[in-house]
Amino acid sequence: MIIFYNGDYMNADDAKVSIFDHGLLYGDGVFEGIRIYGGKVFKLREHVERLFASAHAFLIPLEQHYTPDQFNEHVLETVRRNELEDGYIRVTVTRGVGLGLDPKSFEGREPTVIISASTLSLYPRSCYEEGMEVVTVALRLPRPDAIDPRIKSTGKYINNIWAKFLANQYGADEGLMLTADGYVAEATGDNIFIIEKGRLYTPPVYIGILPGITRQAVMDLAREQGMEVEERMMTLFDVYNADEALLTGTAAEVVPMVKLDGRTLGDGTPGPVTKRLIERFHQYTREVGIPL
Ligand SMILES: Cc1ncc(COP(=O)(O)O)c(C=O)c1O
Repeated sequence: MIIFYNGDYMNADDAKVSIFDHGLLYGDGVFEGIRIYGGKVFKLREHVERLFASAHAFLIPLEQHYTPDQFNEHVLETVRRNELEDGYIRVTVTRGVGLGLDPKSFEGREPTVIISASTLSLYPRSCYEEGMEVVTVALRLPRPDAIDPRIKSTGKYINNIWAKFLANQYGADEGLMLTADGYVAEATGDNIFIIEKGRLYTPPVYIGILPGITRQAVMDLAREQGMEVEERMMTLFDVYNADEALLTGTAAEVVPMVKLDGRTLGDGTPGPVTKRLIERFHQYTREVGIPL
């Protein structure tokens, strides 16, 4: 695998990341996952924009070293060098090399930038065909006044990893997380939607979820199909009694959810609205995107 590492393209095995990298020492970094469909990078500009916004909010000086256009080009070039038509890109930017917490000591230093491209199937085929079983995990989302969820920071994901671990313990395909107040928030790497009487509902971003790029695409596609879409606070009761439910994410794509905490959702199979959205989403991923 060829990767982009701090300005150079190289074999992944030859990259030497410092043992004092702040990303390694403290999870002090930001990241993105991006998909490639049929030789086009899906929503590249949106992902790079979110990456730069996360870095800016975290005072990681990414914008002093790259413009978004230059960054887009490095992402595209990494994919080209790996000769991938379909796949998954991972972009990681850390504060750089240095021991100690104080970001002041990083003045004048460069962030660490890594771009890799390979393939990824997040869930088994059966989850897409038959729908997935989800459990609500005991672990709550960090409050938005602790780590702002809109910053896609590497450190925040220890919470998500732990939530996934809990879901695995129950033998479920995915774990659903609630806010500290008990409202439905998101899964470990996906946003959640429910469908009630033909309308699409999803929790609002301000409760502390990641404003997913796939979430936005699904809302746009649903509206294009004439559906009403609403961002609304919801409790588990709403999900248990939904006609249909689905999860969205770059790695996950769009997945039907047919069971939550032992309750069957709808008739327990992927519903007609979900299937229509999945079909449209797959078409859409091939229509838009930045060509390699
Ligand atoms: C916690 C969380 N929520 C939602 C999402 C979905 O976001 P996106 O569609 O931008 O990949 C992700 C995936 O990155 C995630 O990690």
